[in-house]
Amino acid sequence: MKLAVTGGAGFIGSAFVRLALAEDSSVQIVNIDKLTYAGNLENLDPVRQEPRHRFINADICDSERMQVIFAEERPDAVVHFAAESHVDRSILSPAPVFETNLRGTFTLLEAARTQRVPRFVHVSTDEVYGSINAPLEADEDFPLNPSSPYSATKAGSDLLARSYFSTYRLPVIVTRASNNYGPYQFPEKLIPLMIAHALEDRPLPVYGDGMQVRDWLYVDDHCRGIQAVLRRGREGEIYNIGGSRSLPNLAVVREILRITGKPESLIRFVEDRPGHDRRYALSSEKIHRETGWRPAVGFEQGLEQTIAWYRDNPGWVARVRSGEYSTYYSRNYENREAELRTVIDARGD
Ligand code: NAD
Ligand code: TYD
Repeated sequence: MKLAVTGGAGFIGSAFVRLALAEDSSVQIVNIDKLTYAGNLENLDPVRQEPRHRFINADICDSERMQVIFAEERPDAVVHFAAESHVDRSILSPAPVFETNLRGTFTLLEAARTQRVPRFVHVSTDEVYGSINAPLEADEDFPLNPSSPYSATKAGSDLLARSYFSTYRLPVIVTRASNNYGPYQFPEKLIPLMIAHALEDRPLPVYGDGMQVRDWLYVDDHCRGIQAVLRRGREGEIYNIGGSRSLPNLAVVREILRITGKPESLIRFVEDRPGHDRRYALSSEKIHRETGWRPAVGFEQGLEQTIAWYRDNPGWVARVRSGEYSTYYSRNYENREAELRTVIDARGD
């Protein structure tokens, strides 16, 4: 089977590429990635010598190139990970999010339709359902109610992908996963940011009261869920992929401090994210029933493995932070801390 993977130099895409090549000797992969700040060829070092893997540096918004790549490579399936994937960045700079998540997905769907690609897996997120009141869990029929430019563009691209199934019979499947964590995750998302800060004895910035709830999924479990859907999923369907482990952010942060042996005094409550979703929760009953998939890695085990990886790879963290990261970091965090200080000063605390 030949797969065209988009975004395969990012966190989840590279995990998928490493796993698929290691576990299935019949798989060939054409990996299409623009190498934005989040794309990193180092994530593909373990498959550098692998002749079944070909890397193409290209933008998914480039329709001519996508047409040519699909025409020349004739993939059996597209697995579409490429996206601007971070909510805070989507709030600070929504334009690239719109371009890649909407126009890029459209361009790929068009190339897949014209070149008659036999399967298209569109990798999406539980964030399209928006904040969900307890004790509800979103199943695949739950209404879409996205809150951020990131989740709104993902919801839009899900609908566009599904329209290519209903209109053109392009064999599309949409997956919606919960929050991923694991090695090689860019240190802008909650878990890798908090691990990196804890290991460096730096303050851990918790938004608002830290009681927002997320469902945590180990990245390899997500990749195995996508493989299950690729092999056994039904065309035109949506599959939720959850970790079945809901936790408030503060509990996650405390667990990181416990495992790294660092004091809770490192926690700093900072100004909240605008439009912050309070709770995500999803049912993965359908993917289990139809493909047999279940998450295999418990949260404590996955978190220990992830922390061990970051402890062993400070050079990777330093290198991914060396580019535009400091500009993003100060835009996202410096004002927040200043605003919080003003609130505290005004209260006389
Ligand atoms: P990431 O930000 O780590 O990687 C994104 C990759 O896409 C990078 O390699 C980047 O270079 C590439 N890319 C971005 N724009 C591109 C473009 N225009 N053309 C080609 N390549 C481009 O993201 P991730 O966390 O690995 O997420 C992958 C996918 O999974 C996304 O679609 C995201 O919405 C979805 N998802 C992520 C999570 C999560 O917790 N991270 C959860 C559910 C779903
Ligand atoms: P994040 O990893 O950005 O994923 P998402 O917003 O897509 O769920 O954030 C996870 C949760 O952690 C979210 O509720 C926001 C919160 N958070 C913080 O409290 N502090 C931080 O520095 C970051 C990056 C996130």
